[in-house]
Amino acid sequence: MDGQSTSKLLDLVLRKMLKFLKNNFQLVNFFVAALLVGMLYGWWYLPNSKHLSVNEESAIHNQEKIAVNNSLENRELSSLPVPTPSPTNLEPLITGVPETQASPLLPELPSDYEQLSPPVQQQILEEIPNNVAVKTNLGHYPFSENTQQRLVKVGEYYGRSESLDQEAATAFKRMQADAQVQGVRLTIISGFRSIASQDALFQNQIKRKGGKEAAARFSAPPGHSEHHTGYALDIGDGANPANDLKISFENTSAYQWLVRNANKYGFELSFPPGNSQGVSYEPWHWRYVNSPRANQIFMAARSGI
Ligand code: DAL
Ligand code: ZN
Repeated sequence: MDGQSTSKLLDLVLRKMLKFLKNNFQLVNFFVAALLVGMLYGWWYLPNSKHLSVNEESAIHNQEKIAVNNSLENRELSSLPVPTPSPTNLEPLITGVPETQASPLLPELPSDYEQLSPPVQQQILEEIPNNVAVKTNLGHYPFSENTQQRLVKVGEYYGRSESLDQEAATAFKRMQADAQVQGVRLTIISGFRSIASQDALFQNQIKRKGGKEAAARFSAPPGHSEHHTGYALDIGDGANPANDLKISFENTSAYQWLVRNANKYGFELSFPPGNSQGVSYEPWHWRYVNSPRANQIFMAARSGI
């Protein structure tokens, strides 16, 4: 093809294109508009989506920082400067072992229980004596772990944060404030405990006492501590910390004050001398029972409901 025929062909193509554009003016407009919108979208959206991911990154970074802080806190717990322990009554306070789940311990019912009529079921339940209805573990009743959302920080013990269920926390803070006015310093030694931390504590107690049965007189097996509920706490005398977690706590003004006043705030001693569970006397361990929820938790533990 020579130069003249090429330019003729080009001329023809251009004419055809111009004719097409003229005949399809609206369609062309539409494509141009769509192109402009696409360019604008790309220009605005891409930088903004980058900004969003920066925010997300920083949120994740914050979560990581919290996780690191928590693990630091846990490391500090294991080197906690707890006052000299009494050889028999210490409740060691350790956390940081893998979570384990306690299996629910329910009464043994006939295998065809579900098929029986409600009155017969009721009769069976009533015939189960309380001490048979619940399988205690070495004298301790089963308890579930409270949820993190319900826990409220109540104080610190040697730098370790201690929390209780919101109901028990409110009652304890009120009791603590009133005692303070009367010159008595009630301190929280240990409040809520996870099943994992109780597990570590119990294993430690087994080593100390030489067996599960002996250990269970001082520490509950995991899944069986009132501390899991967030409604029980160990109380000390801030003016006399040398007696923390010792029978000699009963000689402190904190204990004497508790004996006279704790019930007004809904607290009772869980393990008095000669208690039916066979747990060693713990003058420091009190539980809050004065709300429908608290009552239900402790009643259910005893009845296996
Ligand atoms: N010291 C009490 C029994 C507990 O470990 O829960
Ligand atoms: Zn306790």
